[in-house]
Amino acid sequence: MRRVIILGSTGSIGQNAVRVVQDLGDYKVVGLAAYGNHRLLSEQASMLKPQIVTIIKDKNAKQLGKELGHIKLCIGENGIAEMIDTLDADKIICALASSIGIKGIIRALEKKIELCLATKEVLVNYGNLVMKKARESGTKIIPIDSEHSAIYQCLEGRKKEDIMNIILTASGGPFFNRSLRNVSKKDVLNHPVWKMGKKITVDSATMMNKGLEVIEAYHLFGFPAQMIKVVIHPEAICHSMVQFRDGTLLAQLSTPDMRLPIQYALTAPARLSSSTDYLDITQARSLTFASPDYEKFPCLRLAYEALESGSTMPAVLNSANEEAVKLFLEDKIKFNQIPSIIENVIQQHQPRDGDLEHYLHATMWAKEVVRKNVC
Ligand SMILES: NC(=O)c1ccc[n+]([C@@H]2O[C@H](COP(=O)([O-])OP(=O)(O)OC[C@H]3O[C@@H](n4cnc5c(N)ncnc54)[C@H](OP(=O)(O)O)[C@@H]3O)[C@@H](O)[C@H]2O)c1
Repeated sequence: MRRVIILGSTGSIGQNAVRVVQDLGDYKVVGLAAYGNHRLLSEQASMLKPQIVTIIKDKNAKQLGKELGHIKLCIGENGIAEMIDTLDADKIICALASSIGIKGIIRALEKKIELCLATKEVLVNYGNLVMKKARESGTKIIPIDSEHSAIYQCLEGRKKEDIMNIILTASGGPFFNRSLRNVSKKDVLNHPVWKMGKKITVDSATMMNKGLEVIEAYHLFGFPAQMIKVVIHPEAICHSMVQFRDGTLLAQLSTPDMRLPIQYALTAPARLSSSTDYLDITQARSLTFASPDYEKFPCLRLAYEALESGSTMPAVLNSANEEAVKLFLEDKIKFNQIPSIIENVIQQHQPRDGDLEHYLHATMWAKEVVRKNVC
């Protein structure tokens, strides 16, 4: 029996992860964490009977504690690290909507708990520190993001010197073929393919999501930014590709269903049958690919530039974006203000390497600058 911790179990990826773990059978959930949705967390706990549950926001902790009975409750950001420290686990699925669990993630790597990672923000903000910790402890990080899972699978057993490019596909979001004029919140949240949490749905519309994925790929696979390309593929059937030096392209294709990369992250390199709809390639009438429009979607350019600047710059980019997206969802800014708000913060930042506290400080600074500029 494999013992699993799920961070972000109440979210889109988290709920899919719960379904996958139940379908697989040979897995036992020992820890659950969410931000504030105590009702769903309580339901999940009574169904999965973990040893520990963590709620980050303490507002509803008392009520949750009563409902959990004998299950231990941890509270707050530090509660995540405490839960990970206490539990004996084989795998941890990180699917929180932000990098808030970073101290716990680092602790998990130290304890050699294999990290199945959906939260790209963890690598965008702290990639240097997280990858160093993974190397030192010899702990695997297996991506859940469908593009990175595809690349991970295409790279398995390959020599680094044979790789020419890695190619991330992007659905293009709701505005690929539409003007960005008079965009409403409803338009932004109406993703043509994926049903996801609000933050990543906004990021898909600005294409910041793809930019963050470029940075995530840089850390996961260790190729320079120039070797990481983006192509638009609206059908979202080809989840990404690797091009080799002889010109060969290897791709991973499947129906767009996040249960598949979640399952692969848990079972890799083994392949088990899954409950997803299997792709009938004869029904995928056409697969189209196009270059991204960097002028229409400046966030993608900003992400490449932040990656080139290095050290704290991607963390500042990501934090400024998180805050801008939050303000957009609260109707405090317009959709087309998001890129310029981020660019303004980046231009004020001098990137510098340092320890975790230094990176945390840079992320807080970026959020503060966005708030000061807007409010
Ligand atoms: N959804 C996808 O298809 C998909 C695909 C690839 C990668 N990802 C990545 O996976 C991560 C999770 O995405 P999602 O779509 O599952 O998000 P989501 O549905 O919004 O849920 C995320 C989880 O994070 C918690 N959360 C809420 N506010 C938070 C905050 N401020 N800081 C930290 N956690 C918070 C939620 O708890 P409560 O429910 O208690 O609020 C929930 O458990 C993101 O990093 C995203 O980029 C998602």
